[in-house]
Amino acid sequence: MGRCVKFLFSTFAITIAILAIGIGYLKVDDVFREQFFARFLNMLSNPNDVAMMDLRCNQLLKHSNVKGHILEIGSGTGINLPCLHNNTNIESYTGIEPNVHTHPYFYKLVEQYDDISYNIRLSNDSAADMKEIPSDSIDTVIMTFVLCSIPDPIPDKVLREVHRILKPGGKFLFFEHTLAHPEKNPLIYQFQRTIEPVWEIIGNGCRFKPITNYFDAMKSLYSKVEYKSIVLPLPMFFVKDGVRGQLIK
Ligand SMILES: C[S@@+](CC[C@H](N)C(=O)[O-])C[C@H]1O[C@@H](n2cnc3c(N)ncnc32)[C@H](O)[C@@H]1O
Ligand SMILES: *[C@@H]1O[C@H](CO)[C@@H](O)[C@H](O)[C@H]1NC(C)=O
Ligand SMILES: *[C@@H]1O[C@H](CO)[C@@H](O)[C@H](O)[C@H]1NC(C)=O
Repeated sequence: MGRCVKFLFSTFAITIAILAIGIGYLKVDDVFREQFFARFLNMLSNPNDVAMMDLRCNQLLKHSNVKGHILEIGSGTGINLPCLHNNTNIESYTGIEPNVHTHPYFYKLVEQYDDISYNIRLSNDSAADMKEIPSDSIDTVIMTFVLCSIPDPIPDKVLREVHRILKPGGKFLFFEHTLAHPEKNPLIYQFQRTIEPVWEIIGNGCRFKPITNYFDAMKSLYSKVEYKSIVLPLPMFFVKDGVRGQLIK
């Protein structure tokens, strides 16, 4: 009995130690963290996840919604491509993705489709400063699950930069996960606050934030700001609160 407890306890201690060393390593080494995150993101990106792909393809990126020269912020491993490859309204696609370790996964997915009729390119710029993109040149901007991993005050810069590159009347389509409401959902809110330090490290800087504040602040800049709360079809019980909407220039 005593030996068994000892064995369990030491296994537990070793597991914790390995996790701590791993997390410490992720925290200090930027390149390692970006590589790890690219692989992790690729593991999580599942084009066969019916509920998630319904949110992406049928609710946000319906073919009728997405047209012309399009630009995606934080294109990652290309998980929105299954919604875009055969959209004949698209004239070009630019992915803005500073984590270059995701680019090979993205291009591998592109190769799986033989029906992409438009030009695709990726840029390693930050969306806060898209210097290669001329003003008033983009018809549709797409962004999914990105703002959580961008530290303040950069999200505000990103939304302003998107306004610059959009054509007048152009659409900025997005969904994001948000911080749970502290009064409506106090338990989840507390849980999110508690695990945030670790979540932030494994999730490449992703934090639980009141995301809608960023969009509300754009009401004086964009001609239309629309969003609504959604329940995200994700397997983690503490990442259910989401918001989906559009800004129109
Ligand atoms: C959680 S992932 C989401 C990937 C994908 N859009 C999806 O829906 O699964 C967030 C992505 O945003 C990217 N990102 C972080 N900061 C960025 C910035 N300043 N500009 C553009 N993309 C950024 C990250 O590298 C990462 O690939
Ligand atoms: C586009 O491809 C998807 C599969 O990725 C398919 O479900 C959809 O029906 C296709 N749409 C058109 C208009 O061909
Ligand atoms: C980022 O892109 C620029 C311009 O295309 C290129 O010169 C640079 O080497 C790239 N950086 C990385 C880390 O790939």
